[in-house]
Amino acid sequence: MAAATGVVMLAAALAMLAPSTRALDRAEFPPGFLFGAATSAYQIEGAYLEDGKGLSNWDVFTHTHSGNIVDGRNGDVADDHYHRYMEDVEIMHSLGVNSYRFSISWARILPRGRLGGVNSAGIAFYDRLIVALLQKGIEPFVTLHHFDLPHELETRYGGWLGAGIREEFDHYADVCFRAFGDRVKFWITFNEPNMMTKLTYMLGMYPPNHCSPPFGNCNSGNSQREPYVAAHNIIMSHAAVVANYKKNYQAKQGGSIGIVISMKYYEPLTNTTVDILAARRALSFEIHWFLDPIFFGEYPKEMREMLSSDLPEFTLAEKILLENKVDFIGVNHYTAIYAKDCISSPCDLNTYEGNALVFATGQRDGVQIGKSTALVGFYDVPEGMEQIIKYVNQRYENAPIYVTENGYSQHNSNSMEDMINDVGRVNYLRGYLSSISSAVRRGANVRGYFVWSLMDNFEWVFGFTVRFGMYHVDFTTQERIPKMSAKWYRDFLMGSAPLGEVQTLRADS
Ligand code: BGC
Repeated sequence: MAAATGVVMLAAALAMLAPSTRALDRAEFPPGFLFGAATSAYQIEGAYLEDGKGLSNWDVFTHTHSGNIVDGRNGDVADDHYHRYMEDVEIMHSLGVNSYRFSISWARILPRGRLGGVNSAGIAFYDRLIVALLQKGIEPFVTLHHFDLPHELETRYGGWLGAGIREEFDHYADVCFRAFGDRVKFWITFNEPNMMTKLTYMLGMYPPNHCSPPFGNCNSGNSQREPYVAAHNIIMSHAAVVANYKKNYQAKQGGSIGIVISMKYYEPLTNTTVDILAARRALSFEIHWFLDPIFFGEYPKEMREMLSSDLPEFTLAEKILLENKVDFIGVNHYTAIYAKDCISSPCDLNTYEGNALVFATGQRDGVQIGKSTALVGFYDVPEGMEQIIKYVNQRYENAPIYVTENGYSQHNSNSMEDMINDVGRVNYLRGYLSSISSAVRRGANVRGYFVWSLMDNFEWVFGFTVRFGMYHVDFTTQERIPKMSAKWYRDFLMGSAPLGEVQTLRADS
């Protein structure tokens, strides 16, 4: 009896330990849990004008605004995945993942949108990829829109600013469901539309560079209105596609459909009411902005109060369309950060949280929230993962969550050994996976996890200066070399990953 009580107490004590100090075991995750890696079309495919593909907004932007990309480069070739997909599937197989998240290039399928024809070579490429994955027992997890769209639609509708793009997206999704839905069981409508609309129409960093003061200085745009107009069109495009999938495909194809939101976890900088409210506002402008309409048919109260008529209203017909529910929520989580109020004391608004009147900082009393990574503002704070999962489960009807992205950035280095010995990434992944397993033990509804990214790739405005891959890519020879993290992930998936914090590792160990 005493021994049994001792065991119970020990179990309770272990459960209370911070996630990163606990052992990590694949067996702790529910049966059928998906473990994968993620990529996106523009970041890896290359072949930007091959086999009938049309120009995308990112093709045009990187060519006409190369000054906006840190190293002036583009995704014309990227990882040349279009030609090397078989090798990449082989790599995934050797890693032991049971799923792979990738995106379809809209311009490869419909080079000119709805008014042009379907590019059969584009369909054939994704067909080959899907078949190759399934042959290796890897579940395709497919994103329809991951930042790139046919350039022609940018010109015709002003991208997401024009309501006409809703029908375009609906048509594109329908073509994909018809072509691949017999084999693809997981669909994502949009990747991080919250981050994309802010970077595109508020801060003017993504094509077509729209912004206005105090959020930035661009040649055109209106940072006060455009992000919300674009978001409204995206939310309704999403809803129409979900409705179509549910009505015409789900029963016979047996898949599920969701949306991916970028989610930082915001912690109040101080214990003051203003900072506590600032953290809530930041979460609202980050997460509720998209998920409240999708789950409850309304924008969040905090946004309505601050933005009033700049935030569109949902018509009755739109609300009815929004009643078609998602099957899961995709969570892209990389970092936690402190939120400081900017209403009581003004701050620079030219930042990601500026529209929420919040300033985000990694520092509190001179102490950093977590270890730095290569991307400024991204820290290694594993506990944030469990917090965000709990938060999303509680707010959104305990809908199943897939962690669709989580990863660690390194700088380019002249030393190959430094790049391959990615100890920081191993510790990051171990910490975040432990945090998920802790959430799962406490009853969270999480069904899968994808490392961003399978291999180094074109990191948007950072070009090739930052590396997120578990595989190093030599962009001259296109050689893929497993980093320490690839070996660690494989060992974890096979049930034998090292448990403690890794100090040093050798690439060949
Ligand atoms: C995006 C990826 C990107 C990653 C790392 C996410 O915001 O979905 O495309 O490469 O973060 O920055």
